[in-house]
Amino acid sequence: ASLAALTDEVPASHRIQDRRQPVDAQPLSHFANTPDTDPSLLGNRKWGAQIVERIAISDLGVDLVAAHSVDEAAAVDAVVNDAHAAGASWGARPASERAGILRQAAVEFEKRRGELLEVSGSECGKTLDQSDPEVSEAIDFLNYYADLAEGLDTVDGAAPEPVRLTLVVPPWNFPLAIPTGGMAAALAAGSAVIVKPAPQAARCGSVLVETLWAAGVPKDVLRLVHVPENEVGKALISSPKVDRLILTGAFDTATLFRSFRPDLPLLAETSGKNSLIVTPNADLDLAVKDLVASAFGHAGQKCSAASLGIMVGSVATSERFRTQLVDAVTSLKVGLPSDPTTQMGPVIEPAGGKLKKALTTLDPGESWLVEPRQLDDEGRLWSPGVKTGVKRGSEYHLTEYFGPVLGLIEAADFDEAIAIQNETEYGLTAGLHSLERSELETWIDKVEAGNAYVNRTTTGAIVRRQPFGGWKKSAVGAGTKAGGPNYLVGLTDWTSREATK
Ligand code: ALA
Repeated sequence: ASLAALTDEVPASHRIQDRRQPVDAQPLSHFANTPDTDPSLLGNRKWGAQIVERIAISDLGVDLVAAHSVDEAAAVDAVVNDAHAAGASWGARPASERAGILRQAAVEFEKRRGELLEVSGSECGKTLDQSDPEVSEAIDFLNYYADLAEGLDTVDGAAPEPVRLTLVVPPWNFPLAIPTGGMAAALAAGSAVIVKPAPQAARCGSVLVETLWAAGVPKDVLRLVHVPENEVGKALISSPKVDRLILTGAFDTATLFRSFRPDLPLLAETSGKNSLIVTPNADLDLAVKDLVASAFGHAGQKCSAASLGIMVGSVATSERFRTQLVDAVTSLKVGLPSDPTTQMGPVIEPAGGKLKKALTTLDPGESWLVEPRQLDDEGRLWSPGVKTGVKRGSEYHLTEYFGPVLGLIEAADFDEAIAIQNETEYGLTAGLHSLERSELETWIDKVEAGNAYVNRTTTGAIVRRQPFGGWKKSAVGAGTKAGGPNYLVGLTDWTSREATK
């Protein structure tokens, strides 16, 4: 194959130049004008979470959150009815035409890379090293689901029936890739979409939708609705005209949404409490690097993050491991996303509740290997913390934190390590570092997680290669994996046709 052909085959997230060099540098000049690393900026919310306070529905590419005030119930009804109607003509288009528009959107995302990086940094606090791969992941989703859409035409020689309307409810922590993935999947499958961005990522959602419109997705087929979190269920999900729901969020949110419409097919990726096992047979240098990336990437605010390291046998007492881990964690550059060299940014809201407790207190037996410090007045910017001596069955062992804290727990042997890893009620990601083949085989057989990773981080699933989704309380509904071959089928009427045969 020629070099050009090989380059085409590499997913965008693997292309080095995509990670290093934003194509469109213009909007980044906005960052350059912001005084960097000044934590006082956190206090005045010059950047940071933008919370939606009332419903705003727009079919214009303008400032959506500040849109006119509306009669909320009537507005929601109207947007659902319109989108449901538009779904019929979108679903009737040949899959190849829908796929072509999504591939055009991928080109458009590449052109707007700089703008996308700016908005996710300024609104959600994502550092450049986290948001740049996220733009690439969004591009991968667009291209991959375009490919799958064309494949749908040939399932057993017949295309499954599109549904009319899919509601997409993404989270704030991947404000670019996850909403794009949900919208792209539903559009590829032939459904109209209403997207309800997380209130903390409202601007990101608006920019994504504008970009998809610019690529040729009709405005009546893709609708953007900003709704305060507590009104989502009432306003949208209850409508019988919504055919599918794609949700990424907490397990309790998925359960609540399900109670609004028990009959509504749901594809939900929910919470996780993930850990990474390091055995004495690991490449310890690599294990340290991956543990730090898994725990502190995006300040630990990933459903896939590992907030627990399980140290087997001699690893727990290894001076070399401990020194390297402390060095790696304390050398992380903490600051604002406006500085492109920042490695760890803020948390989305001032740390409170369980996260604050995990960052500021120790339970019996625990001690700080690296004590976290609050760096701003508000409690959003923290230096990373590592605690040792976490006890099996303790609050720290079993709780999801979504923040910059890593706990270390000791396991006497490999079997105990796997038991500790599986003991949580979730099963999203899990990691193992070992170069011993028998350990890998045992682990793969026993581990209870949707995404089980060997000798790499627990974060950063690659579209098409590593379909992403959980089991146990990390998934609600169909349980199909995003970025994998079965995802679109759950967004069509294929399953109900099968059931009635
Ligand atoms: N897909 C994201 C990851 O794998 C959540 O980290």
